[in-house]
Amino acid sequence: MEKLMIAGGRPLRGTVQISGAKNSAIALIPAAILADSPVTLDNLPKVKDVDTYAEILCELGVSVEWNGDTMRIDSGRIRSIPMPNGQVKQLRASYYLMGVMLAKFGEATIGLPGGCNFEPRPIDQHIKGFEALGAEVSNQYGSIHIKAKQLRGAKIYLDVVSVGATINIMLAASRAKGLTTIENAAKEPEIIDVATLLNSMGARIKGAGTETIRIEGTDSLQGCRHSIIPDRIQAGTYMIAAAATRGDILVDNIIPKHLEAMTAKLQEMGAHIYEMDESIRVIGQSDYANVDVKALVYPGFATDLQSPMTSLLTQANGVSILTDYVYNNRFKHVPELLRMGAKIKLEGRSAVVEGSALNAAKVKATDLRAGASLVIAALTVDKGVSEISGVEYIDRGYDNLVENLQTMGAEVWREAEKKV
Ligand code: EPU
Repeated sequence: MEKLMIAGGRPLRGTVQISGAKNSAIALIPAAILADSPVTLDNLPKVKDVDTYAEILCELGVSVEWNGDTMRIDSGRIRSIPMPNGQVKQLRASYYLMGVMLAKFGEATIGLPGGCNFEPRPIDQHIKGFEALGAEVSNQYGSIHIKAKQLRGAKIYLDVVSVGATINIMLAASRAKGLTTIENAAKEPEIIDVATLLNSMGARIKGAGTETIRIEGTDSLQGCRHSIIPDRIQAGTYMIAAAATRGDILVDNIIPKHLEAMTAKLQEMGAHIYEMDESIRVIGQSDYANVDVKALVYPGFATDLQSPMTSLLTQANGVSILTDYVYNNRFKHVPELLRMGAKIKLEGRSAVVEGSALNAAKVKATDLRAGASLVIAALTVDKGVSEISGVEYIDRGYDNLVENLQTMGAEVWREAEKKV
């Protein structure tokens, strides 16, 4: 195990190149196995969750070849095996195997997913979708068993707007007989990315990115080449880090439209933002206004940026209120920020943050974005060295984080954790 050591107080300066989106990649990789010939995915992020998915595919007999940030996935020899345990439990997005294995083999047994368990994360809407398509679903000793003789298109209304359920139903329905309509679908850019890949494979999906998605099923899908969209959450994290350290950075290789809510909030606080075609420059200021932030489904402020944003709000004047309307209780970073001297009170689904200088401390990341929040907090501290354990969570979703921060002038390094 390793920990991150951060001697903060240095403004970030320079350019950071953003990799492909983790939350797209971990849906596109399983989607690729729906094709009967090889699929090539470009612009993959080098993050642990992608490696874990590649290992799961190998267990299924799929051939996975890496070349730089490109992965070639050949499922010519895929076999259908139950996957109750093992790597599927390490990864939230292993639930996509339910949709693809059901579509490909008419049956799947997949252990309930693990991943960042900052609160219970039900998958009832995924199951509702599979059942509507004609599958029988049962829970067998903690694994979901799904079976269907023939998947048939259906009209499905999602009771909650869910990224995972929208994608999983799209995956299964792309090989069902007839038309499936998803109402109240999620609109995140990652959903459009998955629909784009599936359509390049020969699927017929319309409306991705709106609340109504129509999928006309097809009997077979073919290989293709697809480049993954940039990671808007990594980009937003660096934007917040630049503002928090009063730095001046260019976040490059992004789609600025995906970050509109983030950009608007930083401007409201007083940061200077310049938007270009594929990059955003953030110039931090010494004084920030307090703001209220509501984390919502896309195109609202992303819940995945809520924890990093909490750290920035400690640097604002006065009291800010941050409310997460996607998850009730995504606040595992708050007790750790309190150790660093933050003044934060939790009230229901809100964090009430009073601006105050932070101090160096030993803290622990308990999930991916909580980890990012602690890194940003530590970067603002100008005396002492902060130690962040639980780096394995951060490695799940940030490509080259330490190197990127070092290139922009941060004093950050990894150290082995001593066994006690
Ligand atoms: N929900 C249900 N039932 C369901 C599915 C979701 O009640 O069947 C609820 C959840 O509990 C939550 C809300 O609906 O309150 C939204 O959940 P969603 O299904 O959209 O989340 P997800 O698909 O499991 C993905 C990302 C998360 C990101 C959310 C929201 C992946 C693998 N994960 O999760 O990313 O926070 O969408 O945008 O794509 C992260 O990257 O750190 C991360 C947690």
